[in-house]
Amino acid sequence: MIPRQIIDEIIFRNDIEQVIGSYVTLKRAGSNLNGLCPFHNEKTPSFTVFPATKSFYCFGCGAGGDVVSFIMREENLDYVGALELLAARAGITIPTDERPGERDTVPRKRIYEMNLAAARFFRECLWDETYGRDALRYLTEERRLSRSTINHFGIGYSPNHFWLLTNHLHKLGFTDEELVVGFLSGKSQKTGKPYDYFRNRVIFPIIDTSGNVVAFGGRVMDDSKPKYLNTSDTPAFKKSRHLFALNFARRQAEERMILCEGYMDVIALHAAGFENAVATLGTAITSEQARIFAKYTKQVVICYDSDQAGQTAANKAMRLLESVGVDVRVLKLEGAKDPDEYIKKFGADGFRRVLDQSMTGFDFRLGNILSNYNLSLPDELIKASSAVCAMIADAPSEVERDICIRKAAAQMQVSPDAMRADVDRTRRLKLREMKKKQSQDARASLKNLGDRVNVDSAKYIRANRAEETLLGLMLIYDEFRREAADGSAGIDGGDFVTEFGRRVFETLCQLEQTDVGFSKAMLGQYFGVDELSRIEKIEMERRNLARNDREVFLAAIRDIREEKRKGTEAQDPFADLRRKREANQTKKENKNT
Ligand code: GTP
Ligand code: MN
Repeated sequence: MIPRQIIDEIIFRNDIEQVIGSYVTLKRAGSNLNGLCPFHNEKTPSFTVFPATKSFYCFGCGAGGDVVSFIMREENLDYVGALELLAARAGITIPTDERPGERDTVPRKRIYEMNLAAARFFRECLWDETYGRDALRYLTEERRLSRSTINHFGIGYSPNHFWLLTNHLHKLGFTDEELVVGFLSGKSQKTGKPYDYFRNRVIFPIIDTSGNVVAFGGRVMDDSKPKYLNTSDTPAFKKSRHLFALNFARRQAEERMILCEGYMDVIALHAAGFENAVATLGTAITSEQARIFAKYTKQVVICYDSDQAGQTAANKAMRLLESVGVDVRVLKLEGAKDPDEYIKKFGADGFRRVLDQSMTGFDFRLGNILSNYNLSLPDELIKASSAVCAMIADAPSEVERDICIRKAAAQMQVSPDAMRADVDRTRRLKLREMKKKQSQDARASLKNLGDRVNVDSAKYIRANRAEETLLGLMLIYDEFRREAADGSAGIDGGDFVTEFGRRVFETLCQLEQTDVGFSKAMLGQYFGVDELSRIEKIEMERRNLARNDREVFLAAIRDIREEKRKGTEAQDPFADLRRKREANQTKKENKNT
């Protein structure tokens, strides 16, 4: 683990106002700062930075924490990764031997080094007369890539051998464990010995925006299966958080980015001058990746394969990207199965022409709906029209709905006025349902139903309230935390009713009792971002109330213990009887004395 002093130093030198201010436009409001929350969509700012407590909280979505958990959320990093980023930002060096990626057996830094060595090795094999001849011919002739494109992307080749890379990396000092954890070697079930994972494939290195080689994709050069092998998730790589070629594309991304399906599509696009193209790593786009787009660009053009699978995937990608607030367009290629083939057939100019004619989300959806019906049959026309009206009713602005209605009515040859009436009616219905759902949601969240961070809170409302009071006080005041930790307050983890409350309590006590003492910044080591947000909320609510704290502290402890007893007794049908008997007993004893 990174030592406490260094963590404190990192936080001290990364002013929360400045760090968050570099991601969010903040406006001063009294002693705090407000802005639009980067973690959910909103039009009025509910995201607040509290310089006094070095924390942030969004009153809209409940995200909160300190500067480290902000970076964890914003940059999709784990705790150690976020600390590393902030350390680098402040020019602090973390001593290397202190930086094993906590739970990970192999530090991320080590995997980057190993991947870099492997990428160099693959590249040398590709250009090697004996090993690489066929692969080079495949890339230059069959796929028509220029030598400069091959070099630009660092494309390589893994020869058809079992131990070439493994032996090479051994010689450079990498261990079996590192090779296997980093996904460059498999482990033989019989002998337990590592062997090369990528064999006889052209290799595409995947490079993150800091220039680290984080993973590889390897393609066969014929029709054998599987077509691709990709690095699975490692301590240094989560495929849901990366985009292929983002290291190049982000420089050209401000106005627009192109999202395609395959590595080969991206490479062909870059070679043709469209250096704003990226691809996901062999999976459907995730919300984390959608957020990456929102960070770099205003508009995303989805350019998936023209087959049915590609179009269905495009529809899903569109929804996700719309939900993070980027302008989404869809490009449906005619006459080619994917962008790679399109450019080969029609050239860069051909692609540029269709790129500017990409469809808005509306046109794409309209086309999809209409293609399901035979519009010359009155029955089907009616069904199509009601599906289209339902879709248009979702558009937020009056003007937008009006434009959509005119377009759709013209295409379907129905009266725009009739359609407008239908859209308005659908909209009223939807609004009513939405209101109903909102008040249900509000009631549910009041009751804490569906609380994923603390799943017990709905069942034990009173206990949870007392627990949160106690934890809030322990977070704010050193003396209460000390008394709880050394046992003098007369409460321990076993007294807690909710599992989450118990975990927070025990972690606070445990940190309190370490040599270096408690620091809130270290909680990131034990809790995920949603849990950290809840902890922030607990502390903030307490801070706003704080009065007569010692009485509150003692009362909270009493309440927790009482709730715990009630909970245990609920499972003991004779508890009532027993208590009565005990009470009688004491009465008798009192009489006797
Ligand atoms: P070409 O067929 O050479 O044009 O390759 P491509 O990169 O365009 O691949 P394709 O359109 O078939 O697939 C899109 C992406 O899905 C690829 O770039 C890979 O990331 C992924 N993919 C395709 N086939 C496989 C496979 O067999 N296994 C895995 N893990 N991923 C695959
Ligand atoms: Mn393809």
